Amino acid sequence: MFFTERQQIERDVEMLVAVYGRERSALISILQDIQRKHRHVSEYAMQVIAHMLDIHPVEVYSVVSFYQFLSDTPAGRYVISLSDCIAHSKAQKDAVARQLETELGIRFGETSADGRFSLKRVGCIGMCDQGPVIRVNGRIYSEVSADRVGALISDCVADTLPGGACDIRESGPGDAGSGESSL
Ligand code: FES
Repeated sequence: MFFTERQQIERDVEMLVAVYGRERSALISILQDIQRKHRHVSEYAMQVIAHMLDIHPVEVYSVVSFYQFLSDTPAGRYVISLSDCIAHSKAQKDAVARQLETELGIRFGETSADGRFSLKRVGCIGMCDQGPVIRVNGRIYSEVSADRVGALISDCVADTLPGGACDIRESGPGDAGSGESSL
């Protein structure tokens, strides 16, 4: 059976509400799963979630805006995040950043035209002593050198990155990261 995108979102949210419940505490889990499946939380999805949890859409929007692992615009298949931790060597971090932009052909904050990559900067990843640190989807790479960036991107292009393509959930400050649905 064919479902429009909106119908699919409604079905997904209904299923997630059945799994996580209608309490306000279910909000983060539902948003994470919608993000993981649809690579973003659309305005329509926010409205549906707000309606089903009986909360104001503004509250849902503010949660989506607050957390780095949620986005209201579609993210790439691989979300590559470079930690901006001030304890990491600026020179090394800058070299990795330049190499990432060169290899991907996009700047930080952008998504590639083919939808494969998004490039972001993130704050604390909790690894001050192991920088530079890159997170690719949920996977952490520490002590990354500019030389290593090419191989990392090649793994993504070849889809050989373990757990990569399907695991678009990003961890981050306040990541609830607990329950999983079967979406
Ligand atoms: S402050 Fe350095 S990784 Fe958190």
